[in-house]
Amino acid sequence: MNILMIGSGGREHALVKKLLESPKCTKLYCAPGNGGIAADAELVDINVMDKHGMVEFAKKNSIDLAFVAPDDPLADGMVDVFEAAGIRAFGPNAKAAVIEASKVFSKNLMKKYNIPTAKYEVFDNVEKAIQYVKSENTAPIVVKADGLALGKGVIIAQTVDEAVAAIKSIMQDKKFGDSGNNIVIEEFLTGPEVSVLAFTDGKCVKPMVSSKDHKRAYDNDEGLNTGGMGTISPNPYYTDEIAQECMDTIFKPTIDAMNKEGRPFKGCLYFGLMLTPNGPKVIEYNARFGDPEAQVVLPRLKTDLVDICEAVIDEKLSDIDIEWYDGAAACVVMASGGYPLSYKKGIEIFGLDQKGQVDGAVVYHAGTKFENGKYYTNGGRVLGVTARADNLDDALKKAYAAVDKIKFDGAHYRKDIGKTK
Ligand code: AMP
Ligand code: GLY
Repeated sequence: MNILMIGSGGREHALVKKLLESPKCTKLYCAPGNGGIAADAELVDINVMDKHGMVEFAKKNSIDLAFVAPDDPLADGMVDVFEAAGIRAFGPNAKAAVIEASKVFSKNLMKKYNIPTAKYEVFDNVEKAIQYVKSENTAPIVVKADGLALGKGVIIAQTVDEAVAAIKSIMQDKKFGDSGNNIVIEEFLTGPEVSVLAFTDGKCVKPMVSSKDHKRAYDNDEGLNTGGMGTISPNPYYTDEIAQECMDTIFKPTIDAMNKEGRPFKGCLYFGLMLTPNGPKVIEYNARFGDPEAQVVLPRLKTDLVDICEAVIDEKLSDIDIEWYDGAAACVVMASGGYPLSYKKGIEIFGLDQKGQVDGAVVYHAGTKFENGKYYTNGGRVLGVTARADNLDDALKKAYAAVDKIKFDGAHYRKDIGKTK
């Protein structure tokens, strides 16, 4: 099969490597990809939002399967355009991807179908929103822009004044553009967070092994929220009992709810959960693999990913068994100095060979460029250094041993992946 991966981050590199393991994959392209993906797939220079460009390329190159990995093109209907052109594509259509693209939609869905989540109110008016946080008079309180905001549209206000400032910055100053025309204000929940990605064909849902993201920039969960500084799988808090509870109260009800709304979800649905004292609750849905969750979940996948993609597209997911490697995986993100604020690009990276592999660990490239035989930084998150082992300790040791061999000016990474609460 000729396969086209769409996207350019560490998640896409992990997907590319997994697809390459399939005997069915004879030719693999990635658009636009990055410096590390170039060693595994043929890069195609098409902008990630150019859905018509992607389809044109797919037609010319007899693509049998297109895999749309990032949130923006999914929300923008790239899968719809592939389908209209008769090209098989993995990922939800725009109507289903709205579960991530609009927090107002997802919160209302959960309320309507009794799926456990934080209590909330929706506002399209600054004064009313401010009045509400003042009358509630509780903190912390959470203010969220409705739309996609590169994962940054969530503000945890520690005081009522901070909440008022957050409302103004989102709704008046348009800090996140039109994403902030509507906002959700919700109750602050506490408890360990768990990421569960699930394959679903719209009828059947098969959760993958669990994972835990470390979202803050610095050790001990200090500093700003980032796209993710590292992950482990499995998540130590996610017991079999909790998994069953989530299946009954969250996963199946969500799939059913999307069907009832006439928006069957096909692809990978990401459940961002919080294990609160009152049971597991949904913090957010994503309409795609998480990044860097994919980097620890996919290395544990034993079953052919191409077979799974086909089963999802053909709505035959219940027919296949999905198998996983026991043990654990860990991913340490090496980021550019300054990330998640401003950072330099184009800094040479030392210690990678051309395949980017170090002593049995796998290095997924997130933001790199390959030029004249050398790798350079080209983004905030640069590399996801990952290892799988029989247990978490060994996976972490292996990943950190590999991190030690990789150098670039200003590189920063967390030293406590897998160790925090
Ligand atoms: P989101 O983009 O919705 O995943 O939010 C980013 C992060 O903000 C989450 O991973 C949580 O750590 C935190 N967060 C979001 N909503 C809440 C909430 N209601 N209570 C506590 N923390 C939250
Ligand atoms: N790691 C969180 C996300 O992919 O949204």
